[in-house]
Amino acid sequence: MFGQIEGQPTLAGSGNTKNKNHFAVYYLFLIVYYDFSIIDDRRQVVKSGQLGVEANMAKSTSTIDFNTRLRRKAQSVNYSLQRILDSRRINSELKEALKYTLGAPGKRVRSVLVLWCCELVGGQVNSNAEVASCAIEMVHTYSLIHDDLPAMDDDDLRRGQPTCHKAFDEATAILTGDALLTLAFEILAEGIDQPVVAVKLINQLAQDAGAAGMIAGQMADLRAEKSVGTKKMLEYIHINKTAKMFRCAAAMGAICGGATQKQFEYLCEYGLHVGLAFQIADDILDETASSEQLGKTAGKDLKAAKCTYPAIVGLEKAREVQEKLTSEAMGMLKPFGQKADTLRQFATALMERTK
Ligand code: IPE
Ligand code: IPE
Ligand code: MG
Ligand code: MG
Ligand code: MG
Repeated sequence: MFGQIEGQPTLAGSGNTKNKNHFAVYYLFLIVYYDFSIIDDRRQVVKSGQLGVEANMAKSTSTIDFNTRLRRKAQSVNYSLQRILDSRRINSELKEALKYTLGAPGKRVRSVLVLWCCELVGGQVNSNAEVASCAIEMVHTYSLIHDDLPAMDDDDLRRGQPTCHKAFDEATAILTGDALLTLAFEILAEGIDQPVVAVKLINQLAQDAGAAGMIAGQMADLRAEKSVGTKKMLEYIHINKTAKMFRCAAAMGAICGGATQKQFEYLCEYGLHVGLAFQIADDILDETASSEQLGKTAGKDLKAAKCTYPAIVGLEKAREVQEKLTSEAMGMLKPFGQKADTLRQFATALMERTK
């Protein structure tokens, strides 16, 4: 759908102390908590998949395995995020808002994509990928806080709880977003073991989340409200506001895992395709799911006259486009053979998600 892979990813346009005993008790608690959460994961998986794809889980053992792995990976991201926040001296009011937003139950799909792309090309998750997965989750969470502000989508509910500006106030929400955005770059500058890798990751994140990426998409999304949307406009908005962050996650994982240029390019295209399919699913779910199920207000797009896939092409065609994108994403994984099965399952799960 997006043309051939040559050099740069094609869709991008422009591219791409306390006392020792306290410490010991604290870490013991975290380890025990983490282990229990994995055990608990297995039970919860049967009740509700990370992405809400219960029906499939009942059908296939491999899907149960996938959902368990997804949940474990998301838990490891939660653990890393918590460690980063706990290790920093931050004004208590701000820290409370940071924990409130970052600690809320997000799906962590971008972070998990970083880890799985690193694993695919590098054989295992390394500490750089762990840092990168936290950085992208911070930027993503900041984008949600700002997206919900009255001046933007004006939303009251996010991740199953009142939005940041409702739970605190608008100024705190703006500043919490600012803090997350800057903290993401701080942890990349500090926590990556090779300066060359750090610069690549910082550059990728800045490009995809910035003025020629997510911000451009958000700007266009707001400007397109109540206008006569076109398919071209729709694709521009969705690629920029959402798909580029998935491309970024895949790229960051590839960089951390030491991908070859070709592997990097395939994974970037995979990320763009699943990212666009993800936003189409978001648009569809906004029309078809309940607020309770989504943990955010359903039906808002229609009220705000947003430029969405269901609004422009209709629900049925939107689902077709989603399937086509997912199958094109699978095509990008061919060179990786069976090793990429997890990413294949990931693409399917993102398409079939119900939350
Ligand atoms: C919501 O992203 C914003 C979109 C780009 C659609 P997610 O659906 O990944 O939100 P969380 O992180 O799970 O809350
Ligand atoms: C937001 O898209 C994309 C971002 C960059 C945050 P939406 O406005 O559709 O996301 P939701 O539906 O509020 O999560
Ligand atoms: Mg929005
Ligand atoms: Mg919104
Ligand atoms: Mg939406």
